[in-house]
Amino acid sequence: METLRSIVVLVHLIGFAALFGAWLVEAVSGRREITKLMNWGLAIALVAGLALAAPWGLGDGDLNHMKVGIKLIVVVIVGALLGIGAAKQKRTGSVPAGLFWSVGILTAANAGLAVIW
Ligand code: HEM
Repeated sequence: METLRSIVVLVHLIGFAALFGAWLVEAVSGRREITKLMNWGLAIALVAGLALAAPWGLGDGDLNHMKVGIKLIVVVIVGALLGIGAAKQKRTGSVPAGLFWSVGILTAANAGLAVIW
């Protein structure tokens, strides 16, 4: 069970890496678009995170519910921003700067919550 949990944590981190990495590429290149990889990364991090947090599943017994709850809310907000951003991008050809930066900052904040709290 411990090995399985470690594998799911790894998948969770790969999801985070995909989301944040895809965002960094856009930020550094100056394109600032919402890309498919961001959605995939978010979905992977969300599914693996839920598996880690499920009371009947891979939880390690002393889960910080407040922390996980806040992480879940942040993920939902990032998902909404990605959806709104992608729609604006389709319509106008660009993503509002505040929306784009919020995606990266909130994703980094979630990783910060996970490791610092
Ligand atoms: C973009 C969103 C997310 C990011 C960037 C993120 C980041 C991380 C990181 C870096 C870790 C490793 C922490 C460590 O091992 O010390 C972790 C662990 C974990 N995450 Fe996430 N996470 C995200 C979303 C979620 C969601 C939505 C949930 C659950 C609803 C969740 C639940 C967990 C759990 C249960 C762990 C195991 C370690 C612990 O108990 O703190 N995560 N996350």
